[in-house]
Amino acid sequence: MCRTSLTQFLIERQRAGKINADLRLLLETIARACKAISTRVNKGSLGGGHGSAGSENVQGEIQKNLDVMSNEILLEANEWGGNLAALVSEEMEDVKPTPTHYPRGEYLLLFDPLDGSSNIDVNISVGTIFSVLRCPKGVTVPDEKCFLQPGRDQVAAGFAVYGPTTQFVITVGDGAYGFTLDRESFTFVLTHEKINIPEDTAEFAINASNMRRWEAPVKRYIDECLAGKDGPRGKDFNMRWVASMVADVYRVLSRGGIFMYPRDSKNKDGRLRLMYEANPMAFIVEQAGGAATDGTTRILDIQPHKLHQRIAVVLGSKNEVERVSKYHA
Ligand code: F6P
Repeated sequence: MCRTSLTQFLIERQRAGKINADLRLLLETIARACKAISTRVNKGSLGGGHGSAGSENVQGEIQKNLDVMSNEILLEANEWGGNLAALVSEEMEDVKPTPTHYPRGEYLLLFDPLDGSSNIDVNISVGTIFSVLRCPKGVTVPDEKCFLQPGRDQVAAGFAVYGPTTQFVITVGDGAYGFTLDRESFTFVLTHEKINIPEDTAEFAINASNMRRWEAPVKRYIDECLAGKDGPRGKDFNMRWVASMVADVYRVLSRGGIFMYPRDSKNKDGRLRLMYEANPMAFIVEQAGGAATDGTTRILDIQPHKLHQRIAVVLGSKNEVERVSKYHA
């Protein structure tokens, strides 16, 4: 069987003029870091990754040991390559410019080192999400403002899911592709060519414990799904909620569906982070033929106003996402 590795896939993209050598190296570095994180996740308690790190992140959430380890793995991997001007992490308060003793590159990296971390200790899939932007021209010391670009300006985005297999999904703007980690050769092998999300679905993902706090259009949409064959939709719906965005979005990419974390009366701006979660996932989902909105605005068109901004997210099968937007309108 002829297998395409992530390295070969990226070199082909470079030859086709879709990415330059620096971006290729950056994406390979991120993938290498994801492999290292995958190994740590896989070791579980034996690798010291389980349990609380006894600290809080910038979001005021208790950090798990694996949150801290994954953040360090990504920081170390990306410090010296010479292709980054600066990076930011969901786990860190401030922008981290590339140290001055290393060459400074043209890209900005944003990542959520370990998404779904409430699932670590209970052996459910977690993952890493990343987004790459271009550093504005003429900037010598990148600050927060340089990162506040709408999602449509991303040059690449991707995520890894550390589940029964480790999956790596990536887009550089010409479709979304999925790779499976071959544990023998420790390489990512292309297994999901040009992912395509079906336009229709009968599966939704939402944390239903927040139902009493949802806004009316979301409540209406879910009520209609729950009414099934007997309701206005005329068909039965299935529900799934892993509580790791990486796993829920991976399912949507695999067989369609709609994923929602709407704003509600407790999380007035929404719960997920625009820069580390919503933007990269929206880019990937759109590249796979799906749609992503905050209810009223296409996520990739939202102008961010701060690094750790939260946002409502509705993404997945196009016709369902459009229906939710219509209910908001
Ligand atoms: O933002 C982190 C995250 O764990 C997402 O991966 C996931 O979709 C969501 O939060 C789960 O939220 P809840 O704990 O409300 O189910």
